[in-house]
Amino acid sequence: MPQTQSASHEHATGQLAPVGVGLLGCGTVGLGVAKLLLSHADDYQHRIGRPLRLRRVAVRDASKARGLDPAHFTLNPEEVVSDPETHIVVEVMGGVEPARTLILQAIAHGKHVVTANKEVIARHGEEIFSAARAQGVAVFIEGTVGGGIPIIMPIKASLAGNRITQIAGIVNGTTNYILTAMTQKGEGLDTALAEAQRLGYAEANPAADVEAYDATFKMAILASTIFSHRVRVEDVYREGITHLTAADIRYARELGYVIKLLGVARHTDGQMQVRVHPAFVPKSHPLAHVNGVSNAIAVQGDAVGEVMFQGPGAGQFPTASAVMGDVLNIASDLQHANRLMGCLHTGHAAVGSIDDLFTQFYVRLLAKDEPGVIAALGNAFARHGISILSLVQKGEQDGLAEIVLVTHTARERAMRQALADLADHPTIQSIASVIRVEGLTA
Ligand SMILES: NC(=O)c1ccc[n+]([C@@H]2O[C@H](COP(=O)([O-])OP(=O)(O)OC[C@H]3O[C@@H](n4cnc5c(N)ncnc54)[C@H](OP(=O)(O)O)[C@@H]3O)[C@@H](O)[C@H]2O)c1
Repeated sequence: MPQTQSASHEHATGQLAPVGVGLLGCGTVGLGVAKLLLSHADDYQHRIGRPLRLRRVAVRDASKARGLDPAHFTLNPEEVVSDPETHIVVEVMGGVEPARTLILQAIAHGKHVVTANKEVIARHGEEIFSAARAQGVAVFIEGTVGGGIPIIMPIKASLAGNRITQIAGIVNGTTNYILTAMTQKGEGLDTALAEAQRLGYAEANPAADVEAYDATFKMAILASTIFSHRVRVEDVYREGITHLTAADIRYARELGYVIKLLGVARHTDGQMQVRVHPAFVPKSHPLAHVNGVSNAIAVQGDAVGEVMFQGPGAGQFPTASAVMGDVLNIASDLQHANRLMGCLHTGHAAVGSIDDLFTQFYVRLLAKDEPGVIAALGNAFARHGISILSLVQKGEQDGLAEIVLVTHTARERAMRQALADLADHPTIQSIASVIRVEGLTA
């Protein structure tokens, strides 16, 4: 890192100079970080042996009341990334641009970077980490996944003695709030979503959450963290929650499951798989009991077994807690890059197609209430090598029978072919739902 004025001050006085922290953004997370920096200054100084100083803070609107000394604010983010007294730049503005360019500029100026921006890391991690490695600076990203839950550092450092075979988690609080309301109150998706919006858990445009884009960014980051290769966002299979109905939630309960939007990254027998989709989770698994806006991530290591991290997946101070942890980790040893926390990837992961997934399936369909339907079902599945674990006719409506079945483990490609055959069968009116049943073992 180029020598700063503070380094020469250190040399002259023999005292450890302050570590300067600049902020790109001072919204929900940024303001939380600034407040922690000011309110916990003595504790932080005690922990790292030198003071942390809040330097320039870039915002779009300097007239907004934020309760900070206005002298910190600038409308020019380049002042943050080039400030000679700033050692660590915290990017919490969100979105891809100008965040990506500013992170790269900060790195070029020899600054360490901490970010909570999942989209910029998921999409441009390769460019950012390569630039950081070339410059010998750190890029820490704890706040990008799971809000306040420590997960990146535990995987990279505390669990470094393991081969991680699987991560399965609930990584989006908004959808977990919606699914919890549907499960516990029997609400439909629209009602639960409207309530989430009223409470500020869902945006007016909820697509990033309910179509699972947000969870996909997080799973690309987690998968890249556990695989020895980087995972492209486009290689993560994505399915949101918009097609789920109260009936599916009810049948899941009757069958001993809870429906969750699950992110899974699995690395077994040389196969890498990353996916986000609604899944039946057995009631006996701890993930089934993670409710409301909470997030939880279960990690399976070959030495440790399964460990689960649970907590607030978003929010001002939980996320600021993750960001400040990164800042303090870097500030405690500004001169030495921590190799464990660095990026050692050399290429992209060959992520397997969802077609090759082996899993169980729940299927709900409407069929004509007449003889031969069950035989037609059995034949269609048998033709593709799929056997049925349980099958129940749940009721009759307007001459149509609602049939719910769960298969034994089958290959996804075979399942799609069987469903296509069934859709063409004269006795089948419609295939209402198909949801994967997750065993949760790697
Ligand atoms: N909120 C959470 O609970 C949470 C949790 C985990 C991760 N994150 C991530 O953390 C990041 C920040 O989220 P947030 O909720 O804090 O966002 P936010 O409340 O919208 O704050 C964004 C901040 O960035 C500033 N900003 C945006 N564009 C700018 C530009 N071009 N130039 C200068 N300043 C700019 C805004 O300035 P003004 O205030 O002047 O408009 C605002 O202060 C995002 O990447 C998000 O995904 C958030």
